[in-house]
Amino acid sequence: MTLRQNNKLRLAVLISGGGTNLQALIDRARDARLAAEIVVVASDRADALGLVRAQRAGIPVHVVDYRSCLQRDAAQLASQELPVDLRQLDRTQNILRQQDSKKRLLHLGRLVLAEKDLLAVLRPYRPDLVCLAGFMRLMTPYFLSQFNREQELRVLNIHPAMLPAFPGQHGYEDTFNYGCKWGGVTVHFVDEGEDTGPIIAQAGYPIWPGDDVETIRQRGLQLEYEVYAQCVNWLAAGQVHVARRASGRLYTVITDPLYRTIVSQWLQQSLT
Ligand code: GAR
Repeated sequence: MTLRQNNKLRLAVLISGGGTNLQALIDRARDARLAAEIVVVASDRADALGLVRAQRAGIPVHVVDYRSCLQRDAAQLASQELPVDLRQLDRTQNILRQQDSKKRLLHLGRLVLAEKDLLAVLRPYRPDLVCLAGFMRLMTPYFLSQFNREQELRVLNIHPAMLPAFPGQHGYEDTFNYGCKWGGVTVHFVDEGEDTGPIIAQAGYPIWPGDDVETIRQRGLQLEYEVYAQCVNWLAAGQVHVARRASGRLYTVITDPLYRTIVSQWLQQSLT
């Protein structure tokens, strides 16, 4: 997939919290280690510290009030104009698994309303990529369909575990509590499931005796910063190709001749 060969990508970065991944992208964009420009930062929480980081860097920020959207009751939802048919959307999503279809459709409708606001915020900035960086909300296929085309995927996520192990919101805790001897970080395209999309890159780190969740989080975060920026650069260079296995599953091939060197460097970094 080539988005803008030899050109800077326009990134929209979505956050929910501290924003150290955002900061790493800002720093790399500033000193030209990133082939991209961050054109907008949006958060689902007004108190996300990452918003301050973005403002300090002169990047426009927006808050989309997910909490109030998710509190709407069925009557409020019915009075709103939804941009999609919820039943149809429900057939393509794999993020909500409640048995009760009424509850599921209600939740889906609330998410779509929040996403409608989010899209209105992002659209004027014409992002090439949407990068989730600690954004703790599920994306529905409605949101994704506004950016993705068949095998041209444009929404990325950084996940703090070696997927497909430990999807969800507590990657470091789950890795540590399971007793893993190695942890990992994953950058992947977002698809209709929770942390199930095609993997772009992964890096692992050892878990030593005496480590705790905080020490492994710090080790992992240092890797997250490197791997996320590298994936953006590969996309900017047209070096991420999406293909399909016979099973139907999408996967990626990185065509950077330096791929092995870069992955070896991540391994070295994790050992020092
Ligand atoms: C990061 O560890 C990121 O991988 C994780 O949240 C943290 C955000 O930190 N994301 C998820 O768990 C997504 N499921 P940051 O705000 O300092 O970048």
